[in-house]
Amino acid sequence: MKRLFIKTYGCQMNVYDSDRMTDVLAPLGYVPTDTAESADMVILNTCHIREKAAEKVFSELGRLRQHKSRAEEQEGRSMLIAVAGCVAQAEGDEITRRAPWVDMVVGPQTYHRLPELVGQADPAARKRVVDTDFPAEVKFDFLPEEHASRGPAAFLSVQEGCDKFCSFCVVPYTRGAEYSRPASSVLEEARRLVASGTVELTLLGQNVNAYHGVMDSGETMSLGRLIRELAEIDGLERIRYTTSHPLDMDEELITAHRDVPQLMPYLHLPVQSGSNRILTAMNRRHDADTYFRIIDRLREVKPDLALSGDFIVGFPGETDRDFADTLKLIDRVGYASAYSFKYSQRPGTPAATEDVQVDEQVKSDRLSALQQLLDAQQLAFNKSAEGQEMDILIERAGGREGQMTGRSPFMQSVYLNGDAADIGKIRRMKIIEGRQNSLLAEAIS
Ligand code: SAH
Ligand code: SF4
Ligand code: F3S
Repeated sequence: MKRLFIKTYGCQMNVYDSDRMTDVLAPLGYVPTDTAESADMVILNTCHIREKAAEKVFSELGRLRQHKSRAEEQEGRSMLIAVAGCVAQAEGDEITRRAPWVDMVVGPQTYHRLPELVGQADPAARKRVVDTDFPAEVKFDFLPEEHASRGPAAFLSVQEGCDKFCSFCVVPYTRGAEYSRPASSVLEEARRLVASGTVELTLLGQNVNAYHGVMDSGETMSLGRLIRELAEIDGLERIRYTTSHPLDMDEELITAHRDVPQLMPYLHLPVQSGSNRILTAMNRRHDADTYFRIIDRLREVKPDLALSGDFIVGFPGETDRDFADTLKLIDRVGYASAYSFKYSQRPGTPAATEDVQVDEQVKSDRLSALQQLLDAQQLAFNKSAEGQEMDILIERAGGREGQMTGRSPFMQSVYLNGDAADIGKIRRMKIIEGRQNSLLAEAIS
């Protein structure tokens, strides 16, 4: 038996990939462990989306170097260190240069080859391997079946890569071109997950609503249709999907929110900015009005749909007026939750070389103003749940003895009293308190 420790950064697709890497390495005898110190192999599954995320990897590699030399010098055992994910893809050579104690560098589309790479890497001979191809073969065709249950709420990648090329974003370069898995392969994986105890599935893709998987007939299936097919699986109680691009919200997907009871009333639909000038410069390919029309249509078919979004402040050339348009958009839409970021210059992206970069302090001020508004909306949304009854999926132990945490249909974290026997159950409960980041629920008396 060998011990494997994987540390995951970034988005849910990396969480999914980390589980798949565990599956790939299981036949070699690798079993997950909780600490890097004791591991025979450590994988950092990395994110390149903003500068901070990418820099974290190098400081973590510094710590790992010490664990590795302690293992070798004091315990007489070897420790393989691998860097996977989007930083591996973007900065493979830089990693081996700055951190020569790294044994393997593997990109998001080649980790199915990990067993071969483990065979090639030889820490004693300081032989390092780098595999950051965009291979002709598709990794999904080479991944073994899941090695262990993914628990009550699981991720399932259905789409990868992106062809949208927003001018600030590294994803098209780190993940490669858009690809949709065949419908049958997705449906089979979903059935296996449900058979092993999953009740909630979140379909993943960098651009998940651009999904167009081939069917056995040779025609393609949209995400809306895929969701309808998944809803036929007995025991699958909840379906979600993320992340979507506004332009790919087609009518079949929108009406799935009306027609499919298992599809949860929550949608993450990033818009990034409320200024048409900035949206154009970002190459988002739609304006604010188009976004409003999509939201209006969604709310027409599903009035209680909770919305979430992503925002970037301080994109090159963003003026006070552009920023005011973003606040106006947020005001008009009303978000249940949202993620917001200061623009980060990413090497190789068109926006990074614009000479009208926004001052750091201005970015910080705008971010706090934006977050103040979003926090207020989120608190109001959580408060509005007080007194309501909701179905809560109980997922794991909470921080305190006798406390469990779960999810509301609207993606809110919920604290409740219960024990491990409740994990995986959906219970109708009463919300007694709405807080900034969570709800408190109790049994209905
Ligand atoms: N595919 C998704 C987003 C993937 S990246 C979409 O199109 O919306 C997740 C979020 O990170 C983005 O929505 C954006 O808000 C943020 N982001 C991406 N690149 C960034 C950059 N260079 N600086 C700051 N935030 C960025
Ligand atoms: Fe990045 Fe834009 Fe693609 Fe989203 S749609 S992953 S923001 S390029
Ligand atoms: Fe990060 Fe790559 Fe996901 S850059 S956000 S881990 S696709």
